[in-house]
Amino acid sequence: MLLQEKQKAPGPISGTGIGLRSSHVGEILMKQPDIPWLELLADNHMAAGGLIPEQLAAVCEIYPVTFHSVGLSLGSIDPLDFKYLGKLKKLMRQHHVAWLSEHLCFTSVDGFHSHDLLPMPYSQESLQHMAQRITHVQDFLGERILVENVSNYMKFAESEMDEAEFITALAIQADCDLLIDVNNIYVNHLNLGIDPVRYIKQLPFERVREVHLAGYEQKDGFVLDAHNNPVSDPVWDLYGQLIQHLPNVPVLIEWDNDIPPLSRLMEEAHKADVIKQQYRQGISYAIS
Ligand SMILES: [Fe+2]
Repeated sequence: MLLQEKQKAPGPISGTGIGLRSSHVGEILMKQPDIPWLELLADNHMAAGGLIPEQLAAVCEIYPVTFHSVGLSLGSIDPLDFKYLGKLKKLMRQHHVAWLSEHLCFTSVDGFHSHDLLPMPYSQESLQHMAQRITHVQDFLGERILVENVSNYMKFAESEMDEAEFITALAIQADCDLLIDVNNIYVNHLNLGIDPVRYIKQLPFERVREVHLAGYEQKDGFVLDAHNNPVSDPVWDLYGQLIQHLPNVPVLIEWDNDIPPLSRLMEEAHKADVIKQQYRQGISYAIS
């Protein structure tokens, strides 16, 4: 029987999952370790270089899976790429993918695609523009998507509100859900001086469907959202403050560069669960 024919609906997305990286695929398929769910970079499976179809089917048969994308360019003024969206939709249906997340950014200008997540001005004009495009995407997919806050390295003079206000208004206007990346909030605190505690308090918690945790890298005069380190202590602390409001929201460990063994990622995921449990029991997490 073909793997595709054997596929069953996966379990729910809950607990702390791991972003699937190609260096771990063999081990995951062979040992099937106890990981609650996996997040896959959808763009990798739309072109050469991603999992071969049989691997993708096998992973999705064993684990609940979500898709994370960087290619929709939600904030761009380029036309939405419905060919790309059609491929995404087909893969999501085929593999019972729980949801798709994208970013509060744009990645294309005049058809030129950037590898960076480029920042948005937080103005009424860009809010209306982005909300409309998210609505079109959701209408096409027939479901809500999640929009993630990103690390920014500059501010626009044109911004009329802060990021927490913008992403809250966006969720309401587009009727989308949110993915809150705690490391990105902290990176923006270090680089741009935003108040991370105030940011968290402003969020519409009922819209938050997923939380990301990652590590940053100290550069000369700034920090980079490099996803190449363990989650930092201040980010664990902020995470603790956030999940008090979101005790049942799934969490994901992102580690994309200088990738350690799978067992190290599972340790990081376990730590996220322990901290969540401590906050559930009213015990404050002590940063070690
Ligand atoms: Fe993230």
